[in-house]
Amino acid sequence: MRGLHRTYRTTVGTLRRRRLEVEAVRGIDLEIGRGELFGLLGPNGAGKTTTIRMLCTLLLPTSGTVRVLGLDAVTQAREVRRRIGYVFGGDRGLYDRLSAYDNLRYFAELYALDPRRMRARIGEVLESVGRAGREKERVEGFSRGMRQRLHLARGLLHDPPVLFFDEPTIGVDPVGAREVRQLISGLQERGKTVLLTTHYMFEADSLCQRIAVISRGRIVASGSPRDLKSAVSDRTVVEIEAYGIGEPALARMRQLPGVESVTVENKDQAQVVSVQSRDSVQLTGRLMELLQGVRVERIGTREPTLEDAYVALVTGG
Ligand SMILES: Nc1ncnc2c1ncn2[C@@H]1O[C@H](COP(=O)(O)OP(=O)(O)O)[C@@H](O)[C@H]1O
Ligand SMILES: [Mg+2]
Repeated sequence: MRGLHRTYRTTVGTLRRRRLEVEAVRGIDLEIGRGELFGLLGPNGAGKTTTIRMLCTLLLPTSGTVRVLGLDAVTQAREVRRRIGYVFGGDRGLYDRLSAYDNLRYFAELYALDPRRMRARIGEVLESVGRAGREKERVEGFSRGMRQRLHLARGLLHDPPVLFFDEPTIGVDPVGAREVRQLISGLQERGKTVLLTTHYMFEADSLCQRIAVISRGRIVASGSPRDLKSAVSDRTVVEIEAYGIGEPALARMRQLPGVESVTVENKDQAQVVSVQSRDSVQLTGRLMELLQGVRVERIGTREPTLEDAYVALVTGG
């Protein structure tokens, strides 16, 4: 991908219609090697789906070029399509009334698979996603995880060398998600090139050799999970679990000397505040001063994780 841009033009409002331009992708340069398992990581709305849809020839770039296996995704879209498979998160595109087998047969016909090979190939992909033996069951009774594996099977039918997965484990239960991840790393072992998007840090960390972090349509960092972690290795994180920390107190925390970022997560009724800083020596004391009158359950220091690196990157800390 070179200088990739994509702007959406929409209108909002019903009475007074306004034109709205959303710059979803604003200049992405990225090269992914053959056989690599690459992760595009970023929060919701960062532009991951937009990027991957351009790679899959499903969306035209506003400007810039996209090449897949040396082929131009715009002018040679048909050739590209034959060589790629994609699985998007969410749960559309399967026919509930049909069995798993019939769903795959439908897509096999769509992909123009050799009819003589079709039955065997469907058997193979069902085997590879661990669904052999249940192919006669209707999809309507399948769990989210089972559906997702069927989606994966669909993406593999024509045995493409390049695969795209957009949030492959979203909405899948933890056991199913682990199986999906195993399947994806198995694909790489079989020589496939895989690009996946996720907003789960640990997923990118456990699966990918290289990650690009994308935020507001731009790549803000890229490298191995280790590279990204080293960017925050000189920091410490003070974690506070408390009740009722107000916005003014958070704003004052952000202004303390050495503080790089302050993030808040809600856990049941409590707030978990993570304060990343370069200099933690006096920080805990200063934070406690700011928290007078607040019920603090727990305060402690820890090493930064990849998650913290990610937070720092996407919040500009
Ligand atoms: N079809 C669309 N029309 C208008 N805006 C869109 C459309 N699809 C996505 N967007 C906007 O583009 C931005 C990037 O979206 P997306 O690529 O889906 O991000 P991600 O997959 O990282 O969550 C968001 O601000 C989103 O609201
Ligand atoms: Mg998305």
